[in-house]
Amino acid sequence: MKVTVVGAGAVGASCAEYIAIKDFASEIVVLDIKEGFAEGKAMDLMQTASLNGFDSKITGTTGDYSKTAGSDVAVITSGIPRKPGMTREELIGINAGIVKMVATSLIEHSPNVIIIVVSNPMDTMTYLVHKATGLSKNRIIGMGGALDSARFKYRLAEALGAPISDVDGMVIGGHSDTGMIPLTRLAARNSVKVSEFLSEERLEQVAADTKVGGATLTGLLGTSAWYAPGAAVSEMVKAIALDSKNIFPCSTLLNGEYGQSDICIGVPVVIGKDGIEKIVEIELSAAEKEQFAVSAEGVRKTNALLS
Ligand code: LAC
Repeated sequence: MKVTVVGAGAVGASCAEYIAIKDFASEIVVLDIKEGFAEGKAMDLMQTASLNGFDSKITGTTGDYSKTAGSDVAVITSGIPRKPGMTREELIGINAGIVKMVATSLIEHSPNVIIIVVSNPMDTMTYLVHKATGLSKNRIIGMGGALDSARFKYRLAEALGAPISDVDGMVIGGHSDTGMIPLTRLAARNSVKVSEFLSEERLEQVAADTKVGGATLTGLLGTSAWYAPGAAVSEMVKAIALDSKNIFPCSTLLNGEYGQSDICIGVPVVIGKDGIEKIVEIELSAAEKEQFAVSAEGVRKTNALLS
């Protein structure tokens, strides 16, 4: 498996690092426009190989897309990150042009690539990749739900006083501070619904903390987070590499599923060697359906800024 990561900033480097450490990719190419930056990150990472015990070969390039040729998967992290107080939606002006150019260049050299979109506003950037390229819909995956679900599990474990390995939970909807829908109704500790342990009020707090997970970190760090985004990407790439058919909530183009069409938004999907192999439709409660419709409306508003 050959994986390209576009953008050697904190998120891109973290993606490359976790993909390397999990040791399922033979080749990882990191590309950035800043002269020498990707080469430097790649060399630094390669010098961890003997220490971390991986054999993936990591190389860097300054903007030379021919080096990405034949990639099975490409991760787009390019663009500007959030500053404290900014929403993801505010990044659209700068990031749309970058993401469109990056996606087109990637496909030119790897016509069968599966693209994972990380750049924000992520759902809209995923939609833009659909509109700007002729790539089939299973090959365009937006990374948001996997990250938001990891943050949900972190908050659930904290509230339960339980180890994270005991906790299961999923976040669907748009990858935004207001659009995320942590499915507290379905969250469980070892098959026991979390509502058995936590009051409704406490669960509402868990959901609220989850939704502003990215914003909280941006406030603390001065820029957006990178470890959990990188780890979430690496798990998705691993599912493609191993054809594992794991379910992740991902942003995907809907065609009637969940009552929506012509929009990319987070829903559970099965990921395997062909990318998104299936959209999993689960029965939502009336309240969740309503939240999903509102979340989709928010994503559509941001999509409208593309034209
Ligand atoms: C975050 C960015 C990746 O949520 O959107 O940290």
